[in-house]
Amino acid sequence: MINKTNVIKIFGFILVLTMVLSACGTKAPATAAPAKTFGEAACGPNCTYADMTLCYPQLGAESDWRTANTASFKETAAKLGVKLIFSDAQQKQENQISALRSCIQQGVNVIALPPVVETGWDAVLQEAQTAGIPVIVVDRSVSADPSLYAAHIGSDMEIEGKRAAAEFNKLLPDGGAVLELSGTTGSGAAVGRAKGFREALNPNITILDSQTGNFTRAEGKPVMEAFLKKYEGQFQGVFFHNDDMAIGAIEAIKAAGIQPGELKMVSVDGTRGGFQLMIDGWLQADVECNPLLGPQVMDLALKLMNGQPIAHEALTDEQVYYPDKAQELLPSRQY
Ligand code: AHR
Repeated sequence: MINKTNVIKIFGFILVLTMVLSACGTKAPATAAPAKTFGEAACGPNCTYADMTLCYPQLGAESDWRTANTASFKETAAKLGVKLIFSDAQQKQENQISALRSCIQQGVNVIALPPVVETGWDAVLQEAQTAGIPVIVVDRSVSADPSLYAAHIGSDMEIEGKRAAAEFNKLLPDGGAVLELSGTTGSGAAVGRAKGFREALNPNITILDSQTGNFTRAEGKPVMEAFLKKYEGQFQGVFFHNDDMAIGAIEAIKAAGIQPGELKMVSVDGTRGGFQLMIDGWLQADVECNPLLGPQVMDLALKLMNGQPIAHEALTDEQVYYPDKAQELLPSRQY
């Protein structure tokens, strides 16, 4: 029953509650909060890097490219004052998915995902979207519906494959046979590079065989040893999907007594290791793939937090490097 005593008690309770909430730094909302749009953070439209918690479930540490990519994220976050939640999935998709779920539970502002493979992301991307956490796909692509992620930043892997093919078309004008050391099976990088390579290679050049070396030196070497045994004298060139596999494979090539320049070889990445291979006469070209994506991703993440419009696809500007400039450029290479 509402009488004078009860009204006083209710006012007293509201007063105490207000004091407790303000003591905890929490304000009772004056009106209902407007619905949060995808990616908009509580501090928007004036969020700064200091407000940002960014999740980066890195796919692994398989190559020099990857080490540079990790360093780019860690260094940029430290410089800008971004709180980075970093993990290493050791090239296992299930580890990346667990890390993503943990970040969703922690309520991070933005997730930047470098997907180890292209498929199998739909469910977890949907979970992030339901939680209102935007995902920026970084480096490799995903096959999920583009509406499930806010943006993709990275290289055009098909163009990289096409650039490598264009080099072989110049190196083997009368045709020939080449071998391919491919990256991680099912990864956007390997799928795109293989596709672009096949599309742009002259019809008088055949791909004798293609095997994965999983983007690592350790796996590149035995794959090349097996190729050398199986196809001795039957090929004129080798296409490596990355510099680390080239470094491992060239150890096997050297051990087989082959001299620099006897085989035409082209790789991808443009790491210091790749530059050294060009200087030593092993590689005839190195197609750039830029790992230094930290600044661009954090800039985009801040825009998302402030509800600003962003492009859904941002491709990195890249080029092809050749032995003639390798010595001069090596000291200034950042990775
Ligand atoms: O996705 C980019 C590729 O991944 C790089 O070419 C390779 O070195 C890395 O492991």
